[in-house]
Amino acid sequence: MIGPAPSVRTMPSMPKQRIAGLADLIEGAAVCVQLDGAPLCVVRVESRVYVLGDTCSHAEASLSEGEVDVDDLTVECPLHGSAFRLVDGVPTGLPATKPVATHEVTIDGDVVFVELPAP
Ligand code: FES
Repeated sequence: MIGPAPSVRTMPSMPKQRIAGLADLIEGAAVCVQLDGAPLCVVRVESRVYVLGDTCSHAEASLSEGEVDVDDLTVECPLHGSAFRLVDGVPTGLPATKPVATHEVTIDGDVVFVELPAP
């Protein structure tokens, strides 16, 4: 017997918000953007843009002050050196063990939008 399809629950999110112009983002570098009081680490690699929580999950350093590895698609925490994958925020090495949040990005023409979870 086949039961009902499992329901898919998604986190409510805020409307898309503009965070930058694509041309304003330097290829292969991280910048910090404050949005609704939340610091975000914004990284452009070629035509893609990644948005992560800017606060390192280990000891709260600012990831946007770290180095971006465009080959591995990671950003390295400037304080103790854990690298976080841009696609999902998972650390690739110690001392950080917990991921940082990642956020959905939409690029419309030259404008970059992000969706943050609802508070
Ligand atoms: S504060 Fe980022 S690895 Fe320690």
